[in-house]
Order: sequence, then C-alpha cells, then structure tokens
Amino acid sequence: MPESVMPMLDKRRGDPPPDAVCAVGLRKSYGDKTVLDGIDLRIPAGSVFALLGPNGAGKTTAVKILSTLIRADGGQARVAGHDLAGSPGLVRAAIGVTGQFSAVDGLITGEENMLLMADLHHLPRRTGRRVTAELLERFDLVDAARKPAQSYSGGMRRRLDIAMTLVGSPRIIFLDEPTTGLDPRSRHAMWQIIRELVTDGVTVFLTTQYLDEADELADRIAVLNDGRIAAEGTADELKRIVPGGHVRLRFTDPEAYRAAADALREAGLPGLTGAQGGASGDEAPALRIPSDGSQRELRSLLDWLDAAGIEADELTVHTPDLDDVFFALTGSDDPAPAGPADRSAGPPPGSRSPFRPQPDSPSRSQETAR
Ligand SMILES: Nc1ncnc2c1ncn2[C@@H]1O[C@H](COP(=O)(O)OP(=O)(O)OP(=O)(O)O)[C@@H](O)[C@H]1O
Ligand SMILES: [Mg+2]
Repeated sequence: MPESVMPMLDKRRGDPPPDAVCAVGLRKSYGDKTVLDGIDLRIPAGSVFALLGPNGAGKTTAVKILSTLIRADGGQARVAGHDLAGSPGLVRAAIGVTGQFSAVDGLITGEENMLLMADLHHLPRRTGRRVTAELLERFDLVDAARKPAQSYSGGMRRRLDIAMTLVGSPRIIFLDEPTTGLDPRSRHAMWQIIRELVTDGVTVFLTTQYLDEADELADRIAVLNDGRIAAEGTADELKRIVPGGHVRLRFTDPEAYRAAADALREAGLPGLTGAQGGASGDEAPALRIPSDGSQRELRSLLDWLDAAGIEADELTVHTPDLDDVFFALTGSDDPAPAGPADRSAGPPPGSRSPFRPQPDSPSRSQETAR
C-alpha cells in the first residue's frame, strides 16, 4: 500500500492514534459470486469498529481476510502496522480472533483449552499458568475451569472462547458475532468485557447482527451490503442519513382517529401516514407525523393539535435508530409486517412537515436521503 494512504505512527501528543487496520479496495469472490467488491476500512487504534450487514453480506469473509485466515483476491491492507500480504506472521502475532463458531475443544477442560493456547503462543509454562489463572478469574470461569468445556452453557463457552483469544495479549481483536445466542445478561457482561479491553488500549473489530450492540459499543460503524460499504460513520451520523423521525399519535377511539386524520390532512400535512392497527388488528389506530423531535417542533405541533381540538390518547416521539439505518441501507425497508404499524410506512424522503420551523433549509436527513 502506498505510504501516502497509510497514516504514519507519530507519537507526538495530540496526534490522532495510528490506524490499527487500514484497508483499501479489498476484493474477494467465490466462483462467480463477488462477496467483497472493493471495500475500504480505516480503524484507529484503541477504538471499537462494528461491521454490520445482512446474513451472507461478507462480514466473516472480511474478518478472515484481515486476520490472515484467507487471502483477498485484490486490494491492500495493513493490520497493526504490518502489510497483510507481505508480513502475515507479524500480523498474526499482533491479533486475536474469536470466530463466529467456537474454537473451544469440548473434550478437554476450560483450563486445558487455555493452557493449550498458551503453548501455541510459546509462553513459558509458568507464564502460561499465570495468564490462564488471571483470565479464568476475569471471565468468571474459575468454578468451571476443571470441567469439560462441552458441559458449559453457550455463554460460558463464548467467554472461554474470548479468554482463549486474549492469552497472547493481542493488540487488535476480531470478534465475529461475539454475543449471538447469549441471553441479555450474558450479552451485557460481554459488552463490559469489550469495554474493558478497549480501556486497556485494545482495538476491537466486531461483527454483529444486533444493532443495539453496535450502537452501544462502537466508535464507528460500517454497513456492508452487496459487497460494498453502504455507509460508515458514528451511530449518530448514520442515524442522520435516514429519514424516519416522527411523532406518533395513538387513539383508542376510531372516531377520534378519523377526525384527527381528516383535520391533519386538511391542514395539508405531507408525509402523514395512518395505521388502523397492527397485523393482529388489536392495536389502536395511530397517526404518524414527520418530525425531527426537536423541542421547538414538538411545541408547535402540540399547539396546533390543541387549536384543532385533537386529543390523542398517547403521543410518542420516534427518532431514527440503527434499525432504520439497517433497513434503509440493506434494501429492505419493510422489515416487520407483524411489527409496530408505524415502522412500515415512513414519510417519503424529502417530505416536509408544516410544523418544521425552517421550511427553506432542508434538514440534514433530507439533504442526504437516498
Ligand atoms: N468457502 C466458501 N466457499 C464458497 N462460498 C463462500 C465461502 N465462504 C463464504 N462464502 C459465501 O460468501 C458469502 C459471504 O459469507 P460470509 O460468511 O462472509 O457472510 P456473513 O456476512 O458473515 O454472514 P452471516 O451474517 O450469516 O454470518 C456468502 O454468500 C457465503 O455463502
Ligand atoms: Mg458471519
């Protein structure tokens, strides 16, 4: 990779951290199926990066390439400052990988799995025992340490998997769906472990199907779709690129709902959508009004509703979340036919609420809506 696109390590205070991972134009195909069609990634050291994408998007393929498990067909990458193709051994020495599917050997104990990893990393026997004991303690596996790993629950196995990855003190760790299948408590425990790793200066490259996980943990998020990075940024930046902010008015009385819908329609409100209930038909009818959720806009909406004599039984403000981003960027904007009625019918991009205070300056979501 040309040095001009590879930021150099500079230890002067105040300089941005060096890149833990920097990839340009990565490509990978299987037969005539293009999985990665030229992806660029840049991950500062000491940060958490989340790669999102639908099943089969190529997340695991990207992890495997960057962790030297398979070779890319094209493109270049540096990981931990080393060229992926030229110095795979140096890359391997700096990284740890917890694959999507467990690397734990079920027939031996958790402790033996750890000691095996210590041997693979050529740690002196005494150091291996010390590191193993420390990690078993840290991952709350001391009581189970002498039991065969096949007797572990899914959450314990996943913790052991990550503990094994940490035996070699990697500076960069790849976690491919680390919390899939875990219960909410175990997921939160795993998030805490990941935060502690980052506090220790480790860079985490994460793939996940859980958008709240990316929202919670990641400094930057990339959405992979059709072999390309469809969008990349902080969670907040990504949320701003999709329209979807709205106020939802729910009515228990269908008559009140109809009157409100008529009044709002007569007011010429573009983007107004209504729903007569969920798929089961037992949900109260609701109206959805495009809104950025700002205090100013809410106040003018509430004033208008008061003046029009409209009284909803429930008013909720919805700001776009990563689910909206995911559905918008990965080609399916009708995610949950049986879900809340307000998710499936977004305002058309560019639609404008009469309650918007600055009709002449489009909101950021309108500027960038696809
Ligand atoms: N060894 C292989 N041979 C042929 N095709 C492969 C191979 N490995 C992956 N693929 C294909 O490449 C595509 C991307 O797979 P990959 O496992 O990277 O997706 P993913 O984003 O990790 O999906 P998931 O969310 O289901 O884990 C899929 O269509 C998959 O079938
Ligand atoms: Mg995968």
